[in-house]
Amino acid sequence: MAEFPRTFTAARLIIVVGAFSLFTYSTPARSEAGKKAMVVSESALASEAGLAILKQGGNAIDAAAATALAVGVTNPASCGIGGGGFMLVYLAKEGKFYALDYRETAPHSASADMYYRDGKPNEELAKVGPLAVAVPGEVAGLDAALKRFGTMKFQQVAAAAIKLARDGFPVSEHLAGELKSGASMLAMDEGLKEVFLKKDGSAPGAGEKIYEKKLADTIERLGNTPVAKFYNGPIGKELVSYLDAHGGILTADDLEDYQPVWREPLHRTYHGMVVYAMPPPSSGGVVLEMLGMLEPGHLPGLGLNSPPYLARLIEVMRQGFDDRAFYADPTFVHVPLDILLSPNHINEARDRALHQKSTAALAAEAHDHGTSNLCVVDEAGNVVDITTTINTVFGAKMTVPKLGIILNDEMDDFSTAPGVANAYRLVGTDANSIAPGKRPLSSMSPVIVVKDGKPVMTAGGSGGPTIITGVLQVALDVLDFHAGAEDAVADARIHEQANPDVVAIEQEMPQTSRDALEQMHYRLRVIPALGAVNAITIAPGNLHGAFDPRKGGGASGY
Ligand code: DON
Repeated sequence: MAEFPRTFTAARLIIVVGAFSLFTYSTPARSEAGKKAMVVSESALASEAGLAILKQGGNAIDAAAATALAVGVTNPASCGIGGGGFMLVYLAKEGKFYALDYRETAPHSASADMYYRDGKPNEELAKVGPLAVAVPGEVAGLDAALKRFGTMKFQQVAAAAIKLARDGFPVSEHLAGELKSGASMLAMDEGLKEVFLKKDGSAPGAGEKIYEKKLADTIERLGNTPVAKFYNGPIGKELVSYLDAHGGILTADDLEDYQPVWREPLHRTYHGMVVYAMPPPSSGGVVLEMLGMLEPGHLPGLGLNSPPYLARLIEVMRQGFDDRAFYADPTFVHVPLDILLSPNHINEARDRALHQKSTAALAAEAHDHGTSNLCVVDEAGNVVDITTTINTVFGAKMTVPKLGIILNDEMDDFSTAPGVANAYRLVGTDANSIAPGKRPLSSMSPVIVVKDGKPVMTAGGSGGPTIITGVLQVALDVLDFHAGAEDAVADARIHEQANPDVVAIEQEMPQTSRDALEQMHYRLRVIPALGAVNAITIAPGNLHGAFDPRKGGGASGY
């Protein structure tokens, strides 16, 4: 069987950076080594903000909140206080894991048929404009995490975000690409136009400065009682009245009723280690199922990114995505995790994966739009991994101009109508249909891996469903192929999500593997870059953090 060297040579690095130049931030190093602490995010400035908090004596939770708020400023196409996310926490002194769900919820007057017009579903309404907006969870989530495990007040961790927004920050390569391709869309919203386009209507290029002064004021106004201000106070009132005036359905009651939820993290063993993941409404369980199906095989014997390795992954991913149909908001739907994660079920799925071969149909989209991942390890050994989003690029393409808040379009993550695919070509089931107060199913699935009771790595990503397969492949690179963080996140990846049944494969994948897969009758769609994944590998006194060259970012440690 062909064996492919896993070493990431300098020559290949140049090719990869060139290929992904549209998405690449001009940061010299893609990884950083640290003895004690590490922050990785999709923005060098945001990672620096997190590191500064650690140096001021804050812990990983404080630093993660600071990084999240800062990345919401510097990566406004991806995330921000108009969105929501998931946080996985390892608390060293207890040796325990916690999962915080601050995903958005459907407004109370949302309904399963809210996107039907003249008897037909109008999918655009779930993606653009006031009806696409679900109740934001970001502020409540960060506040809940700080209150439970943090040591600092909200304004202390928000200071860097406020400064970046008020004093301006240079546009990254990735943001420049999003601004350029979205310029005509940005021109259609008063708030987006004012902040993200120049006077002549053109998009600022990489390195030019952007100022988000109204957002700075809003974050400052949150003070040290952000929930009172955002969900029960003046900021919420302004948000609701703007949405109301523009045809939205989100009410003051929706904001008042919003609650982040602490959930029990999922976990399963993998080669003697334990992988912790977000429970539903995240897809962390799908990552665990895929790992379970792969565990009995000796993957290093196949060779990283060799044809048999990739064929195995494709079939396993397919089984995992078939099961994703069972995942949804557990408050509304029984997700049969006891069955899905049971050895029996995983063995059966593995059997199907080994003996079936997918047939191709449509083409898959895999452009990385919104969403941001960040991970932090502090001196005490605490680990935090957050994935947060406003969903598609610039969310609902709508702001509350006075507040500088970009609103999410998370409603599109529901199955908005039977058989209708969302922005990521995911066709859901009834389990994920819209209901008042319900959280839409998410692909955001950060993981933390433990060996002998101690975390050895954390990873998480952005890119819709490619998060699930990206996190899986980065974890396999580290756990099975002993790659360092930098190689693990940079190595070429594939993505298969069962429907559409076509394999998205990065152009950096060895040609021999691509040819061999086609000979096996897989239909491939070759693309420059799948979603982005960040990772930190953790050993005593030896941390390596890496951001993904596909999207750019920063790793800051000491
Ligand atoms: O929660 C989810 O699965 C999506 N809202 C994530 C969107 C995303 O990653 C955007 N990037 N392509």
